[in-house]
Amino acid sequence: MNIKIIDSPLIKRDITYLRDKETREYQFRLALRRIAYCLAIEISNTFPLVEREVESPLEITTGYKLKQQIVLVPVLRAGLSLVNSFIEMIPDAKVGHIGLQRDEKTLEPIDYYYKAPKNLNISKVIILDPMLATGGSAVAAAQFLKNRGAIDIIMACLIAAPEGVKRMNIEHPEIPIYTAQLDRELNANGFILPGLGDAGDRTFGTL
Ligand code: PRP
Repeated sequence: MNIKIIDSPLIKRDITYLRDKETREYQFRLALRRIAYCLAIEISNTFPLVEREVESPLEITTGYKLKQQIVLVPVLRAGLSLVNSFIEMIPDAKVGHIGLQRDEKTLEPIDYYYKAPKNLNISKVIILDPMLATGGSAVAAAQFLKNRGAIDIIMACLIAAPEGVKRMNIEHPEIPIYTAQLDRELNANGFILPGLGDAGDRTFGTL
C-alpha cells in the first residue's frame, strides 16, 4: 500500500481527542490543527531544494529555497480545517479549492466548485482532507487536478480507512497517502470505524 502513517505520542493523544464524542468544537479544532502541523512537517521532507546564495551580515554563504511551488488543495468543506497549519509552515504556498459533497445514499462525490492556481504541472500539489473513507472524494479530487495538469500530487489526511487507501492505490497508485491514523473499516453507511464521526460537522458545528 502506498501509505505513510505518521506517528508520535502527541498525535496518538490528539487523535484520541478527535475521536472522543465529548470533545467540544474548540478542542477539536485545536487538536486537528496540531496534527496538521505534524503532517505538514512530515510531508515537507519530500520537498526538493535548490541552493541559493545568501549574504549574512558577515559573509556570503550557501542557503536553500524550495524548488517547486507548493499548492494546497483542501477538499471542501472539511479540508479547510487543515489549511491554516500548512500555510503557517509553508507561507508561500498557493491554495486551490475543490468542492465535493458525498451523496449520502450512493456515497459517490458530487462536485460543486473548482478553482486552482496556474502551473499545476510544475507544482507539488497537496490534497487536504481529514477523512479518507470510501476514497471516492480523494479519487475525484486527484482526477480533477490531473485533468488540469497536476503530476506531482500528495494526499494528506488524518484518518484513513483501508477501503479508501485501496481505492486510491488502484486508481492513483503513484500518489502517496500521508495519514495520522489507519482505522479498521467502513460501516454500512460509509463511516470510518472507530473514526471520529463527520469531520466537517464537528469542525464547523453543524451537527
Ligand atoms: C467527507 C470528508 C471527505 C469525504 C470522505 O466529506 O471530509 O471529503 O466525506 O468520504 P469518501 O472517502 O467516502 O469520499 P463530506 O462529503 O461529508 O462533506 P463535508 O466536508 O462538507 O462535510
